[in-house]
Amino acid sequence: MPMCGIVGYVGQKQALEIIVAGLRRLEYRGYDSAGVAVISEGELEVRKKAGKLANLESLLGTDPLPASTTGIGHTRWATHGGPTDSNAHPHLSEDRSVAVIHNGIIENFSELRDELTASGVLLASETDTEVVAHLLAQAIPVANGDLPEAMRRVCRRLEGAFTLVAIDRAQPDLVVAARRNSPLVVGVGQGENFLASDVAAFVDHTREALELGQDQVVAMTAHEILVTDFDGAPVEVKPFHVDWDASAAEKGGYELFMLKEIAEQPKAVADSLRGRMNKESRIQLDEMHMDEGLLRSINKVVVIACGTAANAGMVAKYAIEHWTRLPVEVELASEFRYRDPIVGPDSLVIAISQSGETMDTLMALRHAKAQGARTLAICNTVGSTIPRESDAVLYTYAGPEIAVASTKAFLTQIIAAYLVGLYLAQVRGTMFEDEIRAVFTELHGMPEKVDRVLDTTEPVRALARDLSAATSVLFLGRHVGYPVALEGALKLKELAYMHAEGFAAGELKHGPIALIEEGVPVIVVVPSPKGRAILHDKIVSNIQEVRARGAVVIAIAEEGDETIAKHADHVIRIPAVPTLMQPLVATVPLQVFACEMATARGLDVDQPRNLAKSVTVE
Ligand code: F6R
Repeated sequence: MPMCGIVGYVGQKQALEIIVAGLRRLEYRGYDSAGVAVISEGELEVRKKAGKLANLESLLGTDPLPASTTGIGHTRWATHGGPTDSNAHPHLSEDRSVAVIHNGIIENFSELRDELTASGVLLASETDTEVVAHLLAQAIPVANGDLPEAMRRVCRRLEGAFTLVAIDRAQPDLVVAARRNSPLVVGVGQGENFLASDVAAFVDHTREALELGQDQVVAMTAHEILVTDFDGAPVEVKPFHVDWDASAAEKGGYELFMLKEIAEQPKAVADSLRGRMNKESRIQLDEMHMDEGLLRSINKVVVIACGTAANAGMVAKYAIEHWTRLPVEVELASEFRYRDPIVGPDSLVIAISQSGETMDTLMALRHAKAQGARTLAICNTVGSTIPRESDAVLYTYAGPEIAVASTKAFLTQIIAAYLVGLYLAQVRGTMFEDEIRAVFTELHGMPEKVDRVLDTTEPVRALARDLSAATSVLFLGRHVGYPVALEGALKLKELAYMHAEGFAAGELKHGPIALIEEGVPVIVVVPSPKGRAILHDKIVSNIQEVRARGAVVIAIAEEGDETIAKHADHVIRIPAVPTLMQPLVATVPLQVFACEMATARGLDVDQPRNLAKSVTVE
C-alpha cells in the first residue's frame, strides 16, 4: 500500500504497547485501516480492522493479543483493494508461518498473483501485499530457514516501490525488513530495536537512528542489526541523531495538531534562519555542501514540488529572480518528467518537500539528475529519500509536522528557498552585501510579525464561522500574493471539502469572473501600497470588479492601508512588511480560516478524508 505507517519492534518490553503507540504517531500517514501481529508460543497472532486506529484498539480490548516482545504494526491508506478488514495489514501466508506489512505498490503483483494461484495458493485479500507473504513462506525453506535471505530472494522478484516488514513464527526474536523507494528507518535502542516509516514512531524510546539506503534488507534482533543489499553483501549504514524529542510529536495542550503547528510558526521560522548568517554578515549555508564555482556556472533554476511545497516554490520564484536575475521555473513534480523538460548541467534543480518522500518529487528529481542537472533538496525530514538522493540539501527546521495540511512547513520552505536565493545572489555578486544583510534582517524580524498575526486571529475565525455554509470561496492575489491565494484555496479544499480556487487577480476577467454571483466570498491578498503602488491600485480595481457582481470581499491587508477599507466588506489586518516578506504573514490568516471553517463544519481537521501526509505513490 502506498503511504502507510509501519512499525516493527523486538526487545524486552511488550511489543503491542510500543507498536500501537508508534502507530498513533504515524496515523497521519494513512488512516483507513490498521493492524498488528505478534509472535506468541510459536504462533502468529494478528488483529486488524478497517477504519481509524481507534477501531483496532477497541478490537484489541475485546479480543486481546497474547504477551509478546516481537511484533509489527501498520496503518493503511488504501489503493489496491478497498479499506476492509481483510485488506488491512498484516497479511499472513496460507500456512500462517509469516506475517507481512507493506508500504508502496508492487507493480508486477498481478503476474505474481497468477503464478501463486496457478500453484494452488488461495489468496485471502485483494491486496498486492499478500503475494509477498506467500512468496516469502515459499522462499524460507529454499533459503534453509534464513528469513533475511528469503526476503532478499523475494525482493529480487518484485517491481515497484516497497517497504516490507516480516516476522516468521519459527524465529520469534527476529524482524526483517526491506526497502526500495519507500521510507524506512531503524531506531537503535538498548536491548531493543525499532523499525518505522518515520522516526516519530520510536522517538519516545530512542533518538539514535539509522538511515537505510535503497534496495537494502535489514535483519534485526534485540541486540543486533545487520544490513545487506538485495544480493546479501553487507552494507554500511549511516547513523543519525534525531534532534527533537517526543513532545514535539504530541499535541502539547492544543486541541488539534494543525492549531499547534500554526502556532509554532514563529519558532519554526526562527529555527530555519538560525546560524545562517555569519559574523561577517554573509549568508552561510555550509551544510548545504554546494560548490560556489558550480553555483556561479548555472544559468537557470527549476523548482520541482507538489501541493503546498510547489506554492512555496512559486513564492520563491519572485524573490530568486529579483535577487539573482536567473530565470526560475516552478514545475509541478508530477508533470516534470513527462514533458521532456530542458534541464542539464547548467541548471540548478531545487526539490522542495516537507516529507522528503513524495514519490512525484522523487521521480522528478531522478529525472533531473539523469539529465545532468545539479540538484538541491529543501526538506524537513532528516534522513529521508529526497535529500539523500540530491547533490546537496538545505534542511528546514520546522520540527515534525503531523497534521495532514501543511502549515509551518510552508513558511519554512519559503525561508529556505529565500536563503538559497540570497546565497546565489551573494556568490554571483548580483546583490550588494548591505542589500543581502537588509533582507536577512527583514527575515529575522518575521517570527515576531507572524506572532502578531497569531495574536489577532479572532476576526478571521469569526468570519470562517459566519461563512461556514458557503459552497464556494475564491482567493485572489497578485505577484507573491498569487501563490498565497493558491495556498489559501488549497487549505480550504483539503480541510473544509469546499470548492475553493485561487486566481491571479488580473486573470479573473479572462473567464473565472463568471463564477461570481451574489454572496460569493472572495478573499483578496492585498499587496502593500508601499511596495509597488501599481500592484495595489490594480488589485483595488479587481476588487471593484467582483464586488460589483455581488461578491463579499474579505481583504487581507496591511496595517495602515486605509484605502482598502472602503472597497472591502471585511478587512483582516496583517503587519506591514516589505513585498517579498508578505507571504509569511498573509498565509497565516488563511490557514486559520480553513482550520476554523473545517471545525465549524464538524470535520476532522488533522486527518481530512482521502488524504495522507506523505504521498509515496506517483
Ligand atoms: C497540503 C499538503 C500537500 C503537500 C504535498 C507535498 O496541505 O500538505 O499538498 O504539500 O503533498 O508534500 P511534501 O512537501 O512532503 O513533498
